[in-house]
Amino acid sequence: MSLSEEVLQKLRQLAWAETEKYGTPIPEHFVISEQKGIELAEKLGVDVNIVKAGCYLMDCKLGQALKEGKIQDHVAMSSKWGSEWLSELRVDDDLKNKVINCIEAHHGAVPFSCLEAEICANADCYRFLSARGFFAYMTLLGKRDSEDLDKNLQFMESKIDEKHKILSLDICKKETEENYQMFKKLIMKSRKN
Ligand SMILES: [Fe+2]
Repeated sequence: MSLSEEVLQKLRQLAWAETEKYGTPIPEHFVISEQKGIELAEKLGVDVNIVKAGCYLMDCKLGQALKEGKIQDHVAMSSKWGSEWLSELRVDDDLKNKVINCIEAHHGAVPFSCLEAEICANADCYRFLSARGFFAYMTLLGKRDSEDLDKNLQFMESKIDEKHKILSLDICKKETEENYQMFKKLIMKSRKN
């Protein structure tokens, strides 16, 4: 089976339901990487359906992992769950393997086996390095973790540093660099000392 519109809709629904159930990734972030992934896939001429599936599934178990105190396992959990659903939906093995690589490589833990996976990893970074993604993250932290501003500023800085390192496509580096520098400066200025 190809990654038909029907299969993609099903994967999106499944991932969205996880987001609604656990509150992470927040809907704003889900949509930011979906849209950026589609835009990059079209610009770079690769399979947009693989990128869509990758963007839907790459953090599908992030919320559950966070709730269970094992955020470091979210990639493996997302990969396992995604793989089961791709099999259930009878997605062809070559497509399935590429989507799984999109999930497993989105934090740079394993190499990209295809450009689609690299696009997913870069699209994920916009959740924190785009203006809307950055401010959405700020509201999430206030709600989810703590109202301690200094602690949240620290979280935000480590997150933008992490994503800045993961960015690999020139087009994305160029597009986000100004934001990154600006956010760093604002966070620094916001510190008490
Ligand atoms: Fe992730």
